[in-house]
Amino acid sequence: MLITKRIEFSASHVCRNPLLSDQENLELFGMAANPHGHGHNYVVDITLEGDPDPVTGMVLDLKKLKDIVNREVVTSYDHRFLNYEVPPFDRSVPTPENIAIDIWRRLEPHLAGDGRRLHAIRVYETPDLYVDYFGEVA
Ligand code: NI
Repeated sequence: MLITKRIEFSASHVCRNPLLSDQENLELFGMAANPHGHGHNYVVDITLEGDPDPVTGMVLDLKKLKDIVNREVVTSYDHRFLNYEVPPFDRSVPTPENIAIDIWRRLEPHLAGDGRRLHAIRVYETPDLYVDYFGEVA
């Protein structure tokens, strides 16, 4: 069974790779490379895979899930300038692809176990653009 919890946060970013020159960043990312940054209201769907516990009827206690997600993701990301305040985005471009990978890494150790695993992280940067991440390909 799959169960999905949706969270939202607002954050600013610049689409800029610090290893590239200003001109290279402008050619690659266009206006999104403007160093003043711009904001997005991100929506993240966190999907767990597992069987419901016979006692609770839940794959994972929803209160526990909410606590883990708030602690590991929302408090780190909400109202932050990702490039300057949220590692690893001092070193990598905060694209939705890289945000999905980072959220996976933050959550996976806390959600695996008891016959349950993290199945997918979906990150919407805008209502018409999202990425799905299923962990590293083995
Ligand atoms: Ni953007």
